Amino acid sequence: MSVKFASRVQQMESSEIRELLKLTENPEVISFAGGVPAPELFPINELIQVTKEVLEESGEQALQYGTTEGFNPLREKIAKRMNKKFKTNFGIENILITNGSQQGLDFTGKIFLDQGDVVLCESPTYLAAINAFKAYEPRFVEVQSDDEGMRIDELESLLKTTQNVKFIYIVPDFQNPSGTSWSPERRKQFMQVVKEYDVVVVEDSPYSEIRFEGATPPSMKSMDEKGQVICLGTFSKTFCPGLRIGWVAAETNILEKYILVKQSADLHTSTLNQRNISRYMDSYDFDANIDKIKEVYKKRRDIMLEAIEEEFPKEVRFTRPMGGLFLWVELPEHMDARDVFTKCIKNKVAFVPGESFFPNNRKKNTLRLNYSNMPEDRIVEGIKRIALVLRDLL
Ligand SMILES: Cc1ncc(COP(=O)(O)O)c(C=O)c1O
Repeated sequence: MSVKFASRVQQMESSEIRELLKLTENPEVISFAGGVPAPELFPINELIQVTKEVLEESGEQALQYGTTEGFNPLREKIAKRMNKKFKTNFGIENILITNGSQQGLDFTGKIFLDQGDVVLCESPTYLAAINAFKAYEPRFVEVQSDDEGMRIDELESLLKTTQNVKFIYIVPDFQNPSGTSWSPERRKQFMQVVKEYDVVVVEDSPYSEIRFEGATPPSMKSMDEKGQVICLGTFSKTFCPGLRIGWVAAETNILEKYILVKQSADLHTSTLNQRNISRYMDSYDFDANIDKIKEVYKKRRDIMLEAIEEEFPKEVRFTRPMGGLFLWVELPEHMDARDVFTKCIKNKVAFVPGESFFPNNRKKNTLRLNYSNMPEDRIVEGIKRIALVLRDLL
């Protein structure tokens, strides 16, 4: 039978990159490809304890349907935490708990995008955001980015000349894939420009608390004079991704649309998982756990940068992230990172070729390296193996 799928599904073919990445599942491969946290840092024993307590003390509620907005004590903790860390002004009524921030991305597409509407984004940008938005058939317009964030001159001229821009999607802290964090000055300039337009800003910040050094710059939301910034947050990188707990934080006139969409998508996020995180935050020092994560990742970042400096040919450029999980590599322009990947995978080392992080203007000479998920000796060995291939190809 010929099955007639909707056109949006026909666009969602499995990407060539995803097929390539299946090869990295072999445990012998040193993989810098995934974007995953270090599993040895998950607080397993503490979670066993809190799960037991939650089930013993409030099992009936923890296993029952819950409200769409989420578990109130958790919503409250998130609002307070954001206000303290990122100088926002959220109350419980501004928070919707989602299944990871990825669900927030999908809902953002559903709420704002009609076919042909425009999404402005950084170049490169987060691959799974491109894919989530793509389902709603928008047009992507990339705004060139440099070491300090989005180029403001270009943003301004695109906002002036582009019809139907529905939102600007940004990851200002230790971006996936580039590792870049926007400078305080660039953030201010950005907010000054966007406030002149009726356009929504989606500030996606899964990595902002994974900062190794330097002062925390102002969040976009802290400078939002007219309620146009929507924040997406998650416990995936500060706690663990498997519980799938994230949130959308926004003004109530916007959040109510997210709540409606969430209701029809899945009613609510797991009541047990929400209560577990909330209980964990009551019983343990959440910041101390983040400090442990940062210590390990910082060491891994240092080792990777050191190895790259020693081993990679001088023509290769790379970012020096001050936090997060990734760094970004630019090869000489004539090189294609997929060719490097093909040779590397034979030598049992992997990364993600960068081209799929660009919705339109695919730069084939780029690649993303993740440093959070490999022990230090394997990082050194993996970088040596990539360097051998690079030297050979150059
Ligand atoms: C920029 C960005 N946004 C969103 C997500 C989704 O995270 P989660 O759905 O686990 O909260 C990720 C995950 O890697 C990410 O890098």
